[in-house]
Amino acid sequence: MKSRLSLLFSATAILAVLAGPLAAQETAAQRDARMAWWREARFGMFVHWGLYSGLAGTWDGKPVSKTGGMEWIQNLVKADTDTYAQRAIPLFKPAPGFAREWARLAREAGCRYLVFTTKHHDGFALHDSKVSDFDAGSVLQRDLVREIVEATRAEGLKVGFYHSIIDWHHDQYEYARSTQAPHPLRGTPYPNGTRNHERYIDYLHAQVRELIFNYGPVDVLWWDYSAQDFQGQEAWRAFDLMNMVRARQPGITMNNRLFRSLEAGWKAMGTDGYATQLDPKYGDFITPEQHIPPTGMPGVDWETCMTLNTTWGYSEHDHAWKSDEVLIRNLIDIASKGGNYLLNIGLRADGSVPKETVNSFRAIGAWMRVNGESIYGTSASPFSKLDWGRATRLRDGSAGQGRGRDLLYLHVFDWPKDGRLQVPLASRVGRSWLLADPARRLKVAAAKDQVVITVPAQAPDPIASVVVLELKGEPKTAAVNDR
Ligand code: GLC
Repeated sequence: MKSRLSLLFSATAILAVLAGPLAAQETAAQRDARMAWWREARFGMFVHWGLYSGLAGTWDGKPVSKTGGMEWIQNLVKADTDTYAQRAIPLFKPAPGFAREWARLAREAGCRYLVFTTKHHDGFALHDSKVSDFDAGSVLQRDLVREIVEATRAEGLKVGFYHSIIDWHHDQYEYARSTQAPHPLRGTPYPNGTRNHERYIDYLHAQVRELIFNYGPVDVLWWDYSAQDFQGQEAWRAFDLMNMVRARQPGITMNNRLFRSLEAGWKAMGTDGYATQLDPKYGDFITPEQHIPPTGMPGVDWETCMTLNTTWGYSEHDHAWKSDEVLIRNLIDIASKGGNYLLNIGLRADGSVPKETVNSFRAIGAWMRVNGESIYGTSASPFSKLDWGRATRLRDGSAGQGRGRDLLYLHVFDWPKDGRLQVPLASRVGRSWLLADPARRLKVAAAKDQVVITVPAQAPDPIASVVVLELKGEPKTAAVNDR
């Protein structure tokens, strides 16, 4: 069995080298079709959950830190895998049906997709892996990936696999080859003497293969992550890996984290180290982390991933929850710049969702139920700046030919005290209404370089109220704007 497997691997590798990256063979139109759902979705749930969840930011009875990523706890306390596993495994007790709660919450919040950690840096795989015994199959006799995929699909959401290419547990992972990629044993000699990183890469490919072959369609592969001194073909045989995934899952969308170079959308290490460019052979979208870019990036697909407090994995010590206002306005801000928002939840070890998290996602859901059409399928704002808030644009039908609907959604954060919403627009406009009260028309007056909409005295929503404005022809932004 094993030799046939390795034959298959070398055949795939040879084919990959001969063919070059499959992504490079795709036309722009094919790419647009493949990316269509993702561009329309705008909002996804990110889930960090694994062995670290039970430790919850505590080691030796003390908080490791009150802020920052507690999924990194093994690295923070510099534990080897045996010590880490011995403490974490007894605490990791997923309840039956645990995933239904998060999938339902994601749908209620208006998320269109859910990306979850199939394996984080600690190396513990949530599926039933035939090539490892550091996995849910061996430790819990369960396939948690299958349970999560089924729950997610049952709610009608797209499914994404986060997969860490960094692996702190594998005994052939040559951590000494990078000074930038984290490892709990960094600076100490390999406990097993020498290592052969190629064998780790075989293992990485074998596990990814299990994930993309055994769980039906996978919509997103969210790789995490490369360093400038450890990336791409050298560190992960990245093009072969991507080709294998694409060959099996032609419709899949992948991020850019198998690489860390300028052409791949990175200018540095660090959470705001992204660059505003991406050659599609390195992935489909760039991944600003904990950071909203100051402007949109025409021609580049991007997704901001962000925590609700300051950690990705659950911590019992982190209470720095973002307010509903911050979260809802972030979602709007991102949509107004043409990006997606991947908002994280860190679950407890039994798979349950902390109450603060439930409340935040429900608040977003309540807003989305009224205002979701101003987010889904929209494109970036034509204005470079608006004093009172943000805008998105929706074009139905054949764009540019004056047919179909052409709408501007005006997200008002600061409601006008005089009841006059001033829009710096020089184009012809039609009707206007509030998404919170769609049956009632608002008065619209167009003067030179300015459209004034008369709005009610009270904002329908103190966080963000959406005024819709019909456009007749291309939006001509006036004065301060121009993009
Ligand atoms: C990072 C971290 C990690 C987190 C991820 C999410 O690179 O290493 O813990 O999973 O980003 O974007």
